[in-house]
Amino acid sequence: MIDLQENVLLRDLTTFKIGLGRARYLTTITERQQVPELYQKAQELNLPVVILGEGSNSIAPDRDLEAIVALNRIKGIEQLSETELRAGAGEFLDDLVAYATERGLCGIESLSGVPGSVGAAPIQNVGAYGQDISQVLIELEAFDTVTGEFVVLNSTDCGFTYRESIFKQQAKGRYFITSITVKLHHKQPQPPFYTSLQNYIEQHHLTDFSPAKLRQYILAVRGSKIPDYHQVPSAGSFFKNALITKSQLDDIEKSFGTVPFAEPIGDLIKIPTGWMIDQAGLRGRLFHGVKIDDNNALILLNDSAKTFADLTQAVAEIQQIIKDKFGVAIEQEPINITAIGR
Ligand code: EPU
Repeated sequence: MIDLQENVLLRDLTTFKIGLGRARYLTTITERQQVPELYQKAQELNLPVVILGEGSNSIAPDRDLEAIVALNRIKGIEQLSETELRAGAGEFLDDLVAYATERGLCGIESLSGVPGSVGAAPIQNVGAYGQDISQVLIELEAFDTVTGEFVVLNSTDCGFTYRESIFKQQAKGRYFITSITVKLHHKQPQPPFYTSLQNYIEQHHLTDFSPAKLRQYILAVRGSKIPDYHQVPSAGSFFKNALITKSQLDDIEKSFGTVPFAEPIGDLIKIPTGWMIDQAGLRGRLFHGVKIDDNNALILLNDSAKTFADLTQAVAEIQQIIKDKFGVAIEQEPINITAIGR
């Protein structure tokens, strides 16, 4: 049975808490078997389906959404073999991480404390402190709305790159992810770790690198750098790190000195957008009710903004300042909620 609630404020389903729009219908999916039923219902109502997890990387629009918004709450974590875990897409990603680290399994401990659901992890190829989900995901199960069947996709099928996958691009809206399977390992990572983690380890003279301990360290590092959206609404990193050319990097370094964390990716170089926003002196600044975090310039907080239009203006102004100062176009990272084809 698909239970539909009418005219629900979308912002209440997101952690950024912005936007005036309502969902025509809202439903909660708790069982895999409800998914085909959901799409059948959508067909009867001639409405598209929009899937939401925890809403921690999604921004609500000002206009109403003529769609069925489906909250993915399919639960369950199971150990398939010594090193393989399968998790329902509606689990909290952090619960999967905790489950793994408690069992001494390595490979996702750096994702400790990342908000959001398991099903959202492959969509934006969630990553933190040197790990991302593409490194461990071996397959996922999804309902394919084109064929009307459940399918299994492997990691290559997902087309993972930095914070991207087919689910944000050519296959947007096509699949309803029901579970993911990750393959972990028992080989404990050794220093040097990702810089901010390594600094913490050195400062505290830590020598135990078991996944459970690393989880604790990561949670401590995150807690000091990333504001909690339960206290002030936010969507984590608001911009992607920027991919620039070597000659762009040379120009930037001529004016600003060495860029920290510059990392080659193919022919391009990834540089931290937080550093650029910081260099532009924008930490703590308020744009149309949207505040750049005092400590971490990559994070936007919803201070007093009400509308998506406020946010759009704030984002455009920040993008322009960075463009003028560094010649780099920075891109929004969270996804704006839209109904495909409408
Ligand atoms: N930096 C500044 N000023 C700032 C913020 C950052 O100079 O205000 C500098 C830092 O000092 C550091 C560099 O920028 O040299 C990189 O910063 P950090 O290590 O904090 O990571 P990030 O690149 O800003 C990414 C992810 C985060 C993830 C962290 C840790 C993206 C868009 N963001 O941030 O993910 O937690 O690495 O691995 O890739 C998220 O996606 O919501 C998220 C929080």
